[in-house]
Amino acid sequence: MKLSDYLTAANTMRTIQITKIVTESPTVKTYTFTDKQCANAKPGQFLMLWIPGVDEIPLSILNATKEGEICVAVKNVGTATQQLHAMQTGATIGIRGPFGNNFTQNNGNILLIGGGTGTAPLLFLSKTLTTNKSKKLTFIVGARTKNELLFIDQLNKVCQKGNFITTTNDGTYGIQGIVTDPIEHLLLQEKFDAIYTCGPEVMVKKIFETTQKHQQPLEASLERLMRCGIGLCGSCVIGKYRVCKDGPIFNNKQLTEIKNELGISKLNPNGNKTPI
Ligand SMILES: Cc1cc2nc3c(=O)[nH]c(=O)nc-3n(C[C@H](O)[C@H](O)[C@H](O)COP(=O)(O)OP(=O)(O)OC[C@H]3O[C@@H](n4cnc5c(N)ncnc54)[C@H](O)[C@@H]3O)c2cc1C
Ligand code: FES
Repeated sequence: MKLSDYLTAANTMRTIQITKIVTESPTVKTYTFTDKQCANAKPGQFLMLWIPGVDEIPLSILNATKEGEICVAVKNVGTATQQLHAMQTGATIGIRGPFGNNFTQNNGNILLIGGGTGTAPLLFLSKTLTTNKSKKLTFIVGARTKNELLFIDQLNKVCQKGNFITTTNDGTYGIQGIVTDPIEHLLLQEKFDAIYTCGPEVMVKKIFETTQKHQQPLEASLERLMRCGIGLCGSCVIGKYRVCKDGPIFNNKQLTEIKNELGISKLNPNGNKTPI
């Protein structure tokens, strides 16, 4: 890599203020801010969000308008996300990005499968597909329980009636079970032009295996520990790929190449392989 690869406008830290915070579930909040550099971000890309004095974390872009209004969904899972959840509107944060590749835009019969905050980039994608007059959009989202399901109202709007399927582990909303349960049945019945997924890696692995079995196309967004976000540090490596630079979106062929690590192991902060 050349020095000029790092000295880009996207990789320059911008400090900005949070303009809006919405509580979406007991563990997830959405954050809105203005950032011109991310205005042209595409569904699937991510940004690095710096919480001053705490850490910098990778987050998928949930929405980006051409005026530069950017939105991300954040689940409170640890040190940095807990600090972010404690912040109020007007608080200062830093942004780098957008980084990574994006979902390819396909029309036709489309299936999207989201788990948890993995639904965020898929909701962004579904809005652009609807604009492009995709013929049919089926969206499956899953959560442990009803109040953890995200973006239900918005998803209902982008899907035609009957094409929005929800699962909860405890049966409090939609089909009782896990998000991967309806997929086998669906893939037996229908041929999809594109299938997109983002969520916990164990879920992604199951979906990969099912789509391979039925020879249907898949694009999956993967997560790994990220530090630089621009292909420099190696902390996000999976197989021969760096998730920040070569991903985070991977297709069937690439997923086949990394199947011995997918849903099985990842690098920890010390650079050692650990089970997922
Ligand atoms: C490309 C990408 C997109 C992501 N998009 C979203 C999103 O839209 N919304 C969201 O809530 N989360 C998203 N994440 C995960 C998010 O980055 C982590 O939850 C966050 O970094 C955890 O930080 P923490 O300090 O709160 O947690 P920690 O205290 O550091 O750890 C808590 C858990 O988060 C995992 N984790 C910690 N740091 C990272 C990291 N830098 N990258 C990945 N996992 C990490 C750890 O394995 C651990 O299980 C994304 C991750 C990647 C790689
Ligand atoms: S986060 Fe540094 S190489 Fe990907």
